[in-house]
Formats: sequence, structure tokens, C-alpha cells
Amino acid sequence: MSVTSSVTSVTSSPPSLPADVFELGAEHEQVVFCQDAATGLRAIVAIHSTALGPALGGTRFHPYATTADALADVLDLSRGMSYKAALGGLDLGGGKAVIIGDPATLKSEALLRAYGRFVESLSGRYLTACDVGTYSEDMDHVARESRHVTGRTVAHGGAGDSSVLTAYGVFRGLLAAAEAAWGTDSLEGRVVGVSGVGKVGRHLVGHLVEAGASVVVTDVSDQALDRVRDEHAGVRVAESTEALVASPLDVYAPCALGHALTDEVVEVLSARVVCGAANNQLAHPGVEKALADRGVVYAPDYCVNAGGLIQVADELEGFSFARAQQRAARIYDTTRAVLELAASDGVPPATAADRLAERRMREVGRLRGIWLG
Ligand SMILES: NC(=O)c1ccc[n+]([C@@H]2O[C@H](COP(=O)([O-])OP(=O)(O)OC[C@H]3O[C@@H](n4cnc5c(N)ncnc54)[C@H](O)[C@@H]3O)[C@@H](O)[C@H]2O)c1
Repeated sequence: MSVTSSVTSVTSSPPSLPADVFELGAEHEQVVFCQDAATGLRAIVAIHSTALGPALGGTRFHPYATTADALADVLDLSRGMSYKAALGGLDLGGGKAVIIGDPATLKSEALLRAYGRFVESLSGRYLTACDVGTYSEDMDHVARESRHVTGRTVAHGGAGDSSVLTAYGVFRGLLAAAEAAWGTDSLEGRVVGVSGVGKVGRHLVGHLVEAGASVVVTDVSDQALDRVRDEHAGVRVAESTEALVASPLDVYAPCALGHALTDEVVEVLSARVVCGAANNQLAHPGVEKALADRGVVYAPDYCVNAGGLIQVADELEGFSFARAQQRAARIYDTTRAVLELAASDGVPPATAADRLAERRMREVGRLRGIWLG
């Protein structure tokens, strides 16, 4: 791993930070600290792997309490992107960036453009996109300084809102998981609980209703619930996520924040299938085994939520929605392959997904070192 810094000293960081970076990111190729005092930009770009190609991953804009928290998050998220791209069959590596601060007060055109210059300085080894706290309009600003940007608005040649194909991919994965559980991928009459009906959850509800499922939703935002009720009159609303998971369900789709699958949730869950959009659904290692032991078919999060990555990656070839949708549809086959490997190897699906992703990185990945373009 190479660690480059644009500054000679980062006053808020503990003196031991560089040593910690090597330890914390033992698998990572490169971690770049970026600072622009004039705009208040403090960002970290982490490139986990370029074995399969340039590292693509979004920029999270978040008020981390400490630099160490931001570093831990970007290392974790970038590693996840390598696995997601590898399993999704993309010729991309894994990277991610975080901008430290409250986007509501710190975000400005000048800051985003300063950030864009740092992205450009990596010469395409890292390709950025939207994540929590950043939007397509922000990427348009970043793109005024860098060629290595995806997730721009449609008006600027971008793929726009990635939640459309994220939801479609989750739906395709859900069909494959249903087939593994019940021998048929028909969702007619199945009760599906969706926790979190934001950008992705809302689109997923549309696919489920169309497939004949009986949908129950929950969200902490009344606005989000109202919008779904307006769009689909037949959808029922549960009081809370706790009430939803404890109610009779065939499928549970976590589409809000991470760590939805805790020991407590597994204990009360009646659903035979768990398949949702949220990242990092397993609250801790071991939950995947608890789910398998209870006969729950878990469709791994990064396997089924790769549609958004597929959508923005398509921008690199000149965006075609039809082509990207066709690729996202293959999440059905990938999920089936993961579940088949899990059955044949006698391991939980999450382990099987890791094995398939690692196999592709190893077998298809570049042998002559880091990606340079
Ligand atoms: N947008 C994408 O393309 C994409 C791609 C891959 C993964 N994901 C993941 O999918 C999930 C949803 O993403 P999104 O873009 O729809 O985000 P979003 O912010 O639009 O939606 C999240 C929704 O969850 C609700 N929520 C928050 N806490 C909740 C709780 N405790 N109980 C119930 N609802 C709660 C929010 O009110 C909001 O409506 C996230 O975990 C995200 O990381 C999104």
C-alpha cells in the first residue's frame, strides 16, 4: 500500500495515524489524504484493489467525529466495492472516498471542485460517484475538474439516479432467492416486508406490487410512507421495523441503513427469504450462520444491490439505460450461482459470495501490479 498525503501535517490526527493506516488497510493499495484549506475540504480516498480495473466507488459526505472514524469507514467501504464489482462481473476495482464534514453547511461548488482536482490527480486509478450526502448535481461540479467521475446528471451525460437499477437488481436477486426457497420464483401472494422506502425501497415496492406480492412497508419518514401510499394504494404500513420483522412475512427486504440483521431480528423473523438493498446488513460475523441454521435463504447484500454500480459504471461507455438494465438483470443468475455454491460447499451464502468474488479477482485479475490505465 502506498500512502500519499497532500499536507505535511494533519493536526487533528493522532501522531500514530500513518502506521495505523498500514495496519488498518493491510489489503489496500493506496490511501490518499486530501486537504484544501481555502474551501475546508478534508477528504480521504481509499483504493482497495485495482486487480480488475480502475477503482470505482462513491463519495460519502459525512460529519465524522474523528479522522480515525472517517478512515475506518472509507477502508471498509472501499473493500466492499472490490467485492461488489468482482461479483457483479465488472472490469472494475474497488475504491471509495469520504469528505469529512456536514454537507448541509460545508458543501460548496468550490469545495467540490477542489475535491475534483484531487480525483483528477489520481489519473483515473479512482473513479468517483455519488454516495450518502452527495448527489448527481454534485458530481457535475466534480466533473468540471476531473474526467474520472460517474453518477452525473442525465443532462450532463450521466446515468442519473442509480437507485432505479439498484432496486431492479434487488428484485432480480429476490426472484432467484425465492426460487431457491420455494422452487418457484413467482411472488404471487407472497407477503414481502420492506423496511425503508427511500430512493431504492420505493422502486422495489413498485416491482413487488407488479409481481403480485402483498407488500408491507415501514419507514421513519412520514413523507416517504405517504409517497408509497400515493403510488400503491394496496400497500400496508407497519408501525416500525421491529413490528414489521415480528409480523408474518415470506420475504424481508432491509432497504434502510446497515446492520439490519441482528441476533434479535433473526430470532423473531418468520420470513424464509431475506433480500434487500441496504449495505452491510449483517450486524456482526456469525449472523449469516444463524440465518442459515434457521433455514432462511439470505441473498447477500452486495450481490443483489450491485445494480446501482452497474448503472453508473455504464457511463464509462456512454450511458445506455437499456444496456445497463440488461446487465443488472443478470443479478438473478449471480444470486443463483451464489446460492448454489453455498449449498454445494455447505457454507452460508455470504461466504459463498466472498468466495466467488475472490476467485474472480484472483483468476481474472491483473498479475502485473497496480492499474495505471
Ligand atoms: N441508492 C443506491 O443506488 C444504493 C446502491 C446500493 C446500496 N444502497 C443502500 O440501500 C439503502 C437505501 O438507500 P437509498 O438510496 O434508498 O437511501 P434513502 O436515504 O433514499 O432511503 C433510506 C430510507 O430509510 C429510511 N429509514 C432510515 N432509518 C430507518 C429505520 N430505522 N427504519 C425504517 N426506515 C428507516 C429513511 O427515512 C429513508 O426513507 C442504503 O443502505 C444504501 O447504502 C443504495
